[in-house]
Amino acid sequence: MSKQNREQKKQKVIEVLNKARSMELQAIHQYMNQHYSLDDKDYGEFATKIRTIAIDEMRHAETFAERVKELDGEPTTELAGGVEKNQDVEKIFPFDSEQEEEAIETYNEFAQICRENNDTISAKLFETIIEEEQQHQNYFDDIDDHIKNLGNTYLARMVGTAEGEGGEE
Ligand SMILES: [Fe+2]
Ligand SMILES: [Fe+2]
Repeated sequence: MSKQNREQKKQKVIEVLNKARSMELQAIHQYMNQHYSLDDKDYGEFATKIRTIAIDEMRHAETFAERVKELDGEPTTELAGGVEKNQDVEKIFPFDSEQEEEAIETYNEFAQICRENNDTISAKLFETIIEEEQQHQNYFDDIDDHIKNLGNTYLARMVGTAEGEGGEE
């Protein structure tokens, strides 16, 4: 393979790594905003869990940046989209589940693009992160189910719950 060809392949991988990093940066801001708003409404347990997830996304953004730098690229600072504010508590969980779903689908495509461009290391990075996004989605779906099935009874029980350290579940 010519040097020029290798360079083109590397640029394609850098492009998807940076697109993924933009998605993570947007998710970080979205989840932090939800964390503060849930905290204001005194949903301590939800707030803490979403804070923990935001920190996972920070780690993902950092992982993508490190790989971009290994490939001699420049890590992006752009957010993939805007941040929704003042969401009702009932809206937050299906919204976030959708956001994780999009990440999972997109990262699967990106892993494929990495492989097509002979970069197994980046493809594996995507696969590892997909597993974590899947765990985030499961959490958001579980809470959404509880709210849909039990409604205000469940929500009333979650008001005044303690803000914990947000350790791994
Ligand atoms: Fe992530
Ligand atoms: Fe996630």
